[in-house]
Amino acid sequence: MSGEEEKLVQNVFKSNWIAPAGPDIESFEKEICSYTGASYAVALSSGTAAIHLALILNGVKENNEVLCSTLTFAGSAFPILYQKAQPVFIDCEKKSWNIDPELLEFAIEDRIKKGKKPAAVIVVHLYGQAANMDEIMRIASRHGILVIEDAAESFGSYHGEKHTGVIGDVGIFSFNGNKIITSSGGGALISNNRELAEKARYLSTQARGPVPYYQHEDVGYNYRLSNVSAAIGRGQLRVIDDRVKRRREIFEYYRESLKDIEEIGFIPCDIYGKSNCWLTCIMLDGRSFTPEQVRLNLESVNVESRQLWKPMHLQPVFQRCAYYGNGVSEKLFDNGLCLPSGSSLAQDDLDFIVGHLKKQFGR
Ligand SMILES: Cc1ncc(COP(=O)(O)O)c(C=O)c1O
Repeated sequence: MSGEEEKLVQNVFKSNWIAPAGPDIESFEKEICSYTGASYAVALSSGTAAIHLALILNGVKENNEVLCSTLTFAGSAFPILYQKAQPVFIDCEKKSWNIDPELLEFAIEDRIKKGKKPAAVIVVHLYGQAANMDEIMRIASRHGILVIEDAAESFGSYHGEKHTGVIGDVGIFSFNGNKIITSSGGGALISNNRELAEKARYLSTQARGPVPYYQHEDVGYNYRLSNVSAAIGRGQLRVIDDRVKRRREIFEYYRESLKDIEEIGFIPCDIYGKSNCWLTCIMLDGRSFTPEQVRLNLESVNVESRQLWKPMHLQPVFQRCAYYGNGVSEKLFDNGLCLPSGSSLAQDDLDFIVGHLKKQFGR
């Protein structure tokens, strides 16, 4: 927290607009739009809820197929199952660790040949690094497939000159506690299509009809963000530039300090645009230590690190899903490790972590 949030939350308490409605929700939405350049934003209770609504808005229903990056957090793909649709997982390119456009196109053509044209594709900007949106949009529009941008981890990142999330048909952000900014749990759906955004707002508030009593013509959801959370989110938005700057400094510090250890490589950075460097990830070439040995070594001095996301096609819950692979995500999972990357890490903390890593690698 920056201190800004507390003042805004105090105002919420003074005004007694706690939940579900309140003026901070609308202000938060406007501020998300002015920061990202999106035309419309709908503040929601989570990024997962935003993906779920994005699928509903795009007409995804039972037995439809939805393409999705395999190297991601399960929250990208679970909403496909909420709709009783079928996920089809696509591997990533080495160059960016994000969905491989060539494989994506191959998968689309193969699904069409099998008589199962995909209803949508969920593209993830992994760990804050933008995916190859130019290519992905070109492929999707050629085949008439809608693109949902999962920018849960990349709030504040760019693809070229544009913010991630505003390029696809619908974008989503997460403001969960572990993200670059947080509303203490929350998310947003963004779109340049007014009708779509209005529909998302309607569905997220239990699909109440525009009459003075309770009438429901559609199935609704209780997915709206609370006014208290929106106030926290507004305070965090005021410091997003500092947060991005700090995460980028942390990434650079690790990269510079560990550059002499040839066994350690880094997540490709800024390939398609400036990244928020949400997490700094390293790749070990396996010559001396496995990621688990490095993780345990850091844990022995009370430093938390974690393996990369386990690809969705390897998850027991998705075991029957189709998958188009090239081995990249499995290799990343086997060899990658996320280092502590929080914006509040002090220089002493970073020196301690780097010192400990250097010691392990005999430097
Ligand atoms: C890539 C990705 N997609 C979706 C989500 C889901 O967001 P939330 O936790 O706000 O539901 C997350 C993170 O939690 C994520 O990292």
